[in-house]
Amino acid sequence: MALLPILRFPDPRLKKIAAPVGEIDDSVRRLIADMAETMYEAPGIGLAATQVDVHKQIVVIDVSEGRNELLALINPRIDDLQGQQEGEEGCLSVPGIFEKVERAERVSVHFQDGDGQHQTLVAEGLLAVCIQHELDHLNGKVFVDHLSQLKQTRIRNKLAKQARVTA
Ligand code: NI
Repeated sequence: MALLPILRFPDPRLKKIAAPVGEIDDSVRRLIADMAETMYEAPGIGLAATQVDVHKQIVVIDVSEGRNELLALINPRIDDLQGQQEGEEGCLSVPGIFEKVERAERVSVHFQDGDGQHQTLVAEGLLAVCIQHELDHLNGKVFVDHLSQLKQTRIRNKLAKQARVTA
């Protein structure tokens, strides 16, 4: 397994649209293992392949307290959204920034697992937020895109300043 470098907003590669995964083979399973290791190490509760510059429809998620309930979703599709919730979100690609985002309270998502089996998961609360956040990444969207233009500009300026300090 290997740690993968995570793209930082506003890297234009975060805007790429991920392609569906065809055959789910060992290379896909290896990528999932590397993404999981990268997410746990960061640490984060979700990571999309887009964030490690692989533009395939794969996300890993673990919102459990024990950090031992890994979910890997391949070719995920949300087929139902219900209700509404607002929570503070952050992102491994937007370090140090946390903002409130409105999301659906409950989602039903269809996906394939690491064995290629088709599954449906109904999630609510934090897991539902995480699924919506990660699927946005596969569509080239980061949570910052849900905020007002004014907030987006502030975040860009703040991150640019951070980059100058650490460079
Ligand atoms: Ni994110």
